[in-house]
Amino acid sequence: MLLAFPKCGNNQLSRERALHPLARRTLVALRPASASKHSQPDRLEGGFGDVRAPVWSRRPCYARGVELRADDLAAYARLAAPDRPDAVDRMRGEFERGERRFADVFVARALGGELTAALRAAPAGPATVVLAGPFGDDDAAARLVPEALARARELGARLVRIRPRAAQLGPRFRAALLGHGFRELGERIEFKTPVAELPLDDGRTLAEVGGDAAAEMLARAAAGDPRGDDENDDPRAAIAEFLGAPALTHGPDCVQVGYLDGRPVAFVCAQVQPTDGWARITYMGVVPEERGRGLGAWVHRRGFRILRDQGGQLYHGGTAAANAPMLRLFRAHKCRETERMFEFEWVAAR
Ligand SMILES: CC(C)(COP(=O)(O)OP(=O)(O)OC[C@H]1O[C@@H](n2cnc3c(N)ncnc32)[C@H](O)[C@@H]1OP(=O)(O)O)[C@@H](O)C(=O)NCCC(=O)NCCS
Repeated sequence: MLLAFPKCGNNQLSRERALHPLARRTLVALRPASASKHSQPDRLEGGFGDVRAPVWSRRPCYARGVELRADDLAAYARLAAPDRPDAVDRMRGEFERGERRFADVFVARALGGELTAALRAAPAGPATVVLAGPFGDDDAAARLVPEALARARELGARLVRIRPRAAQLGPRFRAALLGHGFRELGERIEFKTPVAELPLDDGRTLAEVGGDAAAEMLARAAAGDPRGDDENDDPRAAIAEFLGAPALTHGPDCVQVGYLDGRPVAFVCAQVQPTDGWARITYMGVVPEERGRGLGAWVHRRGFRILRDQGGQLYHGGTAAANAPMLRLFRAHKCRETERMFEFEWVAAR
C-alpha cells in the first residue's frame, strides 16, 4: 500500500454498563466453566486461584469488549503507556478535547473490574482506521479484535491497519487478527532521531509540483516497495490521504518531486505535527531505472530539509524489514532504531 503511517462515534452505552453490576457478577459466577460451546473461559486474575469463568461468552449479557469509562483513565494509561508517567494527563486532555473518544477504546476486565487489555480504533484518514495496541493480556486483547474492527467499520474504514510491537504481539492476538480477515504484511523497523542531528541535502533540485505530476511520480517511485507496490492504489488518493492527516502540516511544500537533468525521478512527502514537532517522511521513492546511484540518500536528506524547514523536532520513520535499501538509508543517516513491530491490514471487500 502507498498509504503509510498513522492518524479517528457516538458514545453508545456499553453492554456491560447496561447490566446491573450485581446481576453481571451473578451471571458470571453461576455460569459453569465450560458449559457451552459459546463460552470462552478466562483465567481470573487476583485471588481466585485456579477458578475459571466465562467472562467472555458471546452471549449478550457478558461483555467481550466494553468501552473505556472516564474513571478507568489512569488504569488505561498505565496499560497503554507504562513507561510514560505523564500519559494520564496527556490522555485526559486528548479525551477532553475530543481527539480521543471513549467509544473508540475497547477494554477487557477481570472479574474484579480491573482492566486486563485494551485496543483502540483511531481514525487515520477518510477511510483508514489504525488500531492502537494491543495492550495487556494476549488472550483478553485477542477477544477485543472483533469489537474494534466493527467500530472501525462503523467509522467508515475501508482499510484497517495495526502495527503491534514485537513484544506486544502474542499468538492469540495474531490468530484473532488473521481469523477476522487481516493479512500479515511482515516485520517493520522504526527509527527516531532529533531532526537537528539529521544531515541535509546540498542540492535544491526538488520542486513543488501540481497534483498530477506528483501523483504520477509517486506511482512510479513506489514500484518495488515491499509495502507500496499495489497497482490498484490510486496515487492521487494516497497523496490526499497523506495531506489529510489530522494535526500535520499539509501545505504544497510537503510534497516535492526531484528532477535529474530535467527529468522527474523522485518523490518525497514530509510532514510535521506543529504542536510538538513530531515529524515523518510520509513517503519517498526513486524511479526504478535510477536507483542504486545515491539518489535515495539525496531524497531522504531532502525530506530532512523539509522537516527542518517546517519546525520538525523528532523524526520518526520506519520501513519494512524486507526493504534493504531503505534500511541502509536509515542507518547511513544515523537514525536510531527504536522498535520492531509486525504489520497487519484489513481491507474491505470491493
Ligand atoms: C528505497 C529507495 C528510495 C532507495 O533509493 P536508491 O536510489 O536505490 O538509494 P541509494 O542509491 O542512495 O542506495 C541506498 C543504499 O541502499 C543500497 N542498496 C541499493 N539497492 C539495494 C538492494 N537491492 N539491496 C540492498 N541494498 C541496496 C545501496 O548500496 C546504498 O547503500 P550504501 O550507501 O551503503 O551503498 C528506492 O529503492 C525506492 O524508491 N524503493 C521503492 C520505494 C520505497 O521502498 N520507498 C521507501 C518506503 S518506506
